[in-house]
Amino acid sequence: LFAQGAEFLKGVVAMDGLPPDDRPEVCFAGRSNVGKSTLINALTGRKALARASNTPGRTQEINYFTLTDSHYLVDLPGYGYAEAPITVVKQWQALLRAYLAGRATLRRAFVLIDARHGAKAVDEDIMGLLDKAAVPFQVVLTKADKVKPKDRDAALARTRAALAKHPAAYPELILTSSEDGLGIETLRAAIAAIA
Ligand code: GTP
Ligand code: MG
Repeated sequence: LFAQGAEFLKGVVAMDGLPPDDRPEVCFAGRSNVGKSTLINALTGRKALARASNTPGRTQEINYFTLTDSHYLVDLPGYGYAEAPITVVKQWQALLRAYLAGRATLRRAFVLIDARHGAKAVDEDIMGLLDKAAVPFQVVLTKADKVKPKDRDAALARTRAALAKHPAAYPELILTSSEDGLGIETLRAAIAAIA
């Protein structure tokens, strides 16, 4: 699936701008700066397909990418802290929640959590929304290259424990690094298995 390449389709700012729901899609959700856009680049092997940056709040629209003609990959704006005006951030948050709870063809949400920090209140909040909407989700821990093995194991254990409370959660976590490629093939395989 990934060998055939991915392309940017469109940026969406309102629910009525979503592309036709004619194929399965997966999305990448998570706090600002957790590494959503960078992960899409790592998955697709394209350095700058999704725009990434050190400034939280880089992705400001729901960005659709086509993966061959068979799937959509969806890069979402971050939640939590973002360096953008508060009224603008509130608009993204409303759109993000409407999308997560209301997209019929959303097969799985990947919820990205920084491996150094574990799940925060705002992650719990989004996971609760996904439970309520019955959207299956899977946690992806990011930036594994930045964490010491001991802290990494603690973060894994804590996150696993947090997931037990969420009926919509897959029990398996995927530990990734877009920097050194850890977990990328595993995540590709998980997406390829979704029809
Ligand atoms: P928003 O669009 O603002 O919500 O952020 P985002 O979640 O899309 O994060 P983005 O991909 O823009 O990455 C944020 C920063 O983290 C960038 O400086 C990336 O280079 C860095 N980063 C992302 N993934 C990794 C990783 O696996 N390892 C390391 N070391 N840095 C990473
Ligand atoms: Mg982004």
